[in-house]
Amino acid sequence: MKCRVCRGPAVIDLRRHNANFCHEHFVAHCEEQVRRAVRHFAMLEPGDRVLVAVSGGKDSLALWDLLVRLGYAADGLYVGLGIDRYSDESLGHARAFATRRQLDLHVVDLATDHGFTVPEAAAATRRAPCGACGLSKRHVFNRYALDHGYDVVCTGHNLDDEAAVLLGNVLHWDLDSLARQHPALPAAPGFARKVKPLYRLGEREMAAYCVLERIDYQVDECPMAAGNRHLAYKESLNALELRSPGSKAAFLFGYLERAHGSFTRGGPTVALHPCPRCGTPTPGDECAFCRLQHRAIPVTS
Ligand code: AMP
Ligand code: FES
Ligand code: ZN
Ligand code: ZN
Repeated sequence: MKCRVCRGPAVIDLRRHNANFCHEHFVAHCEEQVRRAVRHFAMLEPGDRVLVAVSGGKDSLALWDLLVRLGYAADGLYVGLGIDRYSDESLGHARAFATRRQLDLHVVDLATDHGFTVPEAAAATRRAPCGACGLSKRHVFNRYALDHGYDVVCTGHNLDDEAAVLLGNVLHWDLDSLARQHPALPAAPGFARKVKPLYRLGEREMAAYCVLERIDYQVDECPMAAGNRHLAYKESLNALELRSPGSKAAFLFGYLERAHGSFTRGGPTVALHPCPRCGTPTPGDECAFCRLQHRAIPVTS
């Protein structure tokens, strides 16, 4: 197996690209995919203050590493979700990475800063924990960026994540989610710009990047996410990809280039006003995060 670029011994084969790469040229490939993503959707401007949402997993640590390599001033933000040992270990990986690279990692802890954990919120709402978890993370990323003067929030969603979400949205014809699913959401009043610079790179590429670059990451999946639908969509897409390499990318990139626009046009616009407690724009009396907080810790209401 020879590297496509230098003909030296290859360390990885990428069937989707019909290419093998040595360590050096695989890293260059990852950099190029991020550069292309950033350029194509004008995700980042030179001089932007960048906040990377860092979970301690492979994708977000690889993303932080790649953005710094590409010359961006990027700080990290870890959100403590209170999922026992899993959260402690994840923070440990994020901290160790930041220390070794001399980067700034900010930490917001749901229990300390907002009075509840994801397991408590899930129990209070009697819904799957991932709903409360996703809502809380999105809220904290956005508030932290706005309150601390960051221009943009980057998350480590990769090609596999985005293709699986797209499959779920299409299977349920969830038109609102389809309209919102995009690797670059511009800033709006009360909302920071949000981008996903890894949408062109797969899960396997990100794991290989971390192993080759000696980045220790949280290998375990979240214990609360076991059996969720998202994982089933990933498995279905993996089966397709095995038979027909490039299917995932064709599905996601084709959607972004040719179909996304038809889901964003002409929808009704909902009037938003600032949440009286936290200032986040909301169509209701109180934003969804503050409502969740009330349910998780009823004594504060
Ligand atoms: P997930 O929703 O777990 O698939 O994660 C998607 C992305 O959200 C990750 O790549 C990170 O950028 C970000 N993220 C997930 N969990 C956390 C966390 N606890 N703290 C900060 N960022 C996170
Ligand atoms: Fe969100 Fe597990 S990381 S429920
Ligand atoms: Zn090479
Ligand atoms: Zn609020």
